Amino acid sequence: MPQARYKQLVDRLAADIRQGRLKPGTVLPTHRQLAAEEGISLATATRTYAELQAMGLVAGEVGRGTFVREPLPLGQDAEMHVASGDLVDLTFNYPALPAQTEALRTALRQLASAGELDSLLRYQPHGGRPHERAVVAEHLKSRGLAVSADTVLIVSGAIHGLATVAMSLLQPGDVLAVDALSYPGIKVVAEQCRLELVAIPAAGMGPDLDALEALCRSRRVRAVYCMPTLHNPLGWVMPPSQRHALIDLARRHGLLLVEDGTYAFLEKRAPPALAALAPDITVHVSSLSKSVAAGLRFGFVSAPPALIPRINRAIRATVWNTPSLVTSIACQWLQDGTVARLERDKRRDASARQAIAGRVLSQFRTVGHPASYFIWMPMPQEVRADAVAMRLREENILVSTSQPYAMTSQPPHAIRLALGSVSHASLQQALEVVARVVGNLGY
Ligand SMILES: Cc1ncc(COP(=O)(O)O)c(C=O)c1O
Repeated sequence: MPQARYKQLVDRLAADIRQGRLKPGTVLPTHRQLAAEEGISLATATRTYAELQAMGLVAGEVGRGTFVREPLPLGQDAEMHVASGDLVDLTFNYPALPAQTEALRTALRQLASAGELDSLLRYQPHGGRPHERAVVAEHLKSRGLAVSADTVLIVSGAIHGLATVAMSLLQPGDVLAVDALSYPGIKVVAEQCRLELVAIPAAGMGPDLDALEALCRSRRVRAVYCMPTLHNPLGWVMPPSQRHALIDLARRHGLLLVEDGTYAFLEKRAPPALAALAPDITVHVSSLSKSVAAGLRFGFVSAPPALIPRINRAIRATVWNTPSLVTSIACQWLQDGTVARLERDKRRDASARQAIAGRVLSQFRTVGHPASYFIWMPMPQEVRADAVAMRLREENILVSTSQPYAMTSQPPHAIRLALGSVSHASLQQALEVVARVVGNLGY
């Protein structure tokens, strides 16, 4: 059996297992039966099962045969396991600089002594108190967005912003166009809001607009979710011409643009945001999760004025208001320059981490932005990303495969390395193990 066809069989069985068509515990055909069913040699059948075993999808037991395993927590699903052991987490980015704990201590002390604590005990307006919305508007204006306090809403992180936008502005069954590789959270939001995600392939530094145009001609597309600046996971920054072409397409087909700027602070010289170029059709969602701290759960949405009351109701239905304990601290940091300083320091930190990765992984093909907190590492044809992730897990290193990022049922074989959550020294060591494991697996 040619190499490519044998790998196709592995991928087909892997997809059946991941998508639940083959349930955990299912006993698979014997090696001999598989060989007969697929018209392959016994040796190839054995090799197929060995590969699926290395990917953590099946287990072979003497006397019981080969059966489908309970899914192992890998990649993004492993989040809760990180805290429990000595795992080096290269799946999630929660970049924090050493002085940040002290800054939080100081902010809490200041709040305790000088803040108007009484108001923290009460319900607040859903999208934030007017003076806080004004502070966020100033922050977004410094990014070139044409906003005012009335057109921004405070939410509990960007994921909450995306969820409230989807709940309030889209209907179940609506088609939402997304990049074929995109932020995993959008899949969860779409699933909860019963949206249909349709993947748009990439073309250069952005989505393939011809493919989007063709989609809009054949289907009623309601909105596009995109990350023009610092795309997660590919790190692209869409050039101005492509941004204008996307806006033009959106206007012609009546699309809402949902722009995610969560990582945008890492590229200081980015072209204007979609929300700056086309504020009437763009909802911009962002947060302080990467620039300040993910645990803060502070995010914001800016939208055309007519859409604000609808998003406001979704905030009411979900959290009522983002806790004012959080908004007080975040707005203080936005006003006193702490956020601007952290953004600058994190740009430097991310660049230093990219430099480490560039050195350690120099013999491999990687995709990314020179100042971003992640790297995409496509695997060659014969290497299965799940097998790499499994081997690394045995070495206490968690990496994500492309699966959570893939918006199609055919994830490419690639791993994504989050560089931001461990010390520089641990990162260097972990990446050296990644280089060894990937190298040994046949790079
Ligand atoms: C592109 C993108 N958008 C949104 C989020 C969610 O961020 P938050 O922690 O603010 O909810 C993330 C988190 O990693 C992200 O990568």
